[in-house]
Amino acid sequence: MAEDSRLNSAEGGNRTLQEQRPLKRRHDEDEDEASSPNKKLDTGEGHSQKVATHYNALQECGLEQRSRSRIVHMRNFNNWLKSVLIGEVLDTLRCDRREVCVLDLGCGKGGDLLKWRKGRISRLVCADIAAVSVEQCQQRYTDMKRRSHPNERIFTAEFITADCSRELLSEKLSDPEMQFDVCSCQFVYHYSFESQQQADTMLRNACERLRPGGFFIGTTPDAYELVKRLEQSDSNSFGNEVYRVTFQKKGDYPLFGCQYDFNLEGVVDVPEFLVYFPLFVEMAKKYKMRLVYKKTFHQFFEEKIKDERNKSLMQRMQALEQYPVEDRGRLACDSVKEYEHAERRAQSTGVSLPLGTLSRSEWEATSIYLVFVFEKTA
Ligand SMILES: C[S@@+](CC[C@H](N)C(=O)[O-])C[C@H]1O[C@@H](n2cnc3c(N)ncnc32)[C@H](O)[C@@H]1O
Repeated sequence: MAEDSRLNSAEGGNRTLQEQRPLKRRHDEDEDEASSPNKKLDTGEGHSQKVATHYNALQECGLEQRSRSRIVHMRNFNNWLKSVLIGEVLDTLRCDRREVCVLDLGCGKGGDLLKWRKGRISRLVCADIAAVSVEQCQQRYTDMKRRSHPNERIFTAEFITADCSRELLSEKLSDPEMQFDVCSCQFVYHYSFESQQQADTMLRNACERLRPGGFFIGTTPDAYELVKRLEQSDSNSFGNEVYRVTFQKKGDYPLFGCQYDFNLEGVVDVPEFLVYFPLFVEMAKKYKMRLVYKKTFHQFFEEKIKDERNKSLMQRMQALEQYPVEDRGRLACDSVKEYEHAERRAQSTGVSLPLGTLSRSEWEATSIYLVFVFEKTA
């Protein structure tokens, strides 16, 4: 992978979010979880169980309800980013392998199933701590298969309910010798940083059954960004109208168990833990994993949007909002302040309208995250 320029190209670029032009078509990708009973959960002994209870209680809601969400474009943007990441890794693997086997660690309700289908993988193992989510994921897979064209060869799949930070997945696999080409851990790994043992077990599950040359990919909050924003705040909390992060205290950031609450417009409200990335990289070496790529969401966007295919996928997925809004349409938020950046851009000479943008609050929320890719060396 290190030699592959697709995932190792230079950082930066001149384009900004505002320069991307959205199309009017509905996106054709699956989505992440969308609504929450908005319960506050405390941590402690049964923390993992509480995560499971929380995710189990999330309601599946239809496309229509999702499209009315204040953060619909941000969720589409996150989905675009996962699609690009997954697509590139699968393309890289396919150069020397026909059959690709994937572990989706913390699969949730199956928000990435369509990505695996598009990536034409052969086998998928989905694992999650939340039994109800796993059931819904399995149902989604069954429905997808049933509706597919008889000539399409859809991957085979198995579904496992397990606390992947405490239990060994290898003991639950239908074939204990199964090997993976990819482990994908999207918006999940930070739950395991409650303790060293949990973080190590999650890492072991992610990596021990990877083939040499296989990849461990994922997305997780960037500890530097979180701490930077916390230190800039007057209190133990920071955020805006779509997200809020609350730490227990400032100035003391233990390597494990550094808890914060992340509330995203009612989507997630369970305790999470800081993942100090240099430590993550060191811990991964135990499983012969080498970091080959790490970018913030912002850097990732700037790098990948240069590719026309990614750009057109972004338009199809409606990952950005159209500004100014078309006749009788509405922006995700009525506040002018949320679109000052887009308005400034729109006023510049030579800019073709409409622009594609995210509201300021959505961009602040999504830019907390980073993307990582590890490769198994032996
Ligand atoms: C934000 S959701 C992401 C779901 C999915 N990966 C996606 O991108 O749409 C986080 C998921 O991690 C799962 N999770 C959290 N802790 C876990 C653990 N210890 N073992 C397995 N899954 C866990 C939750 O149940 C939830 O489904």
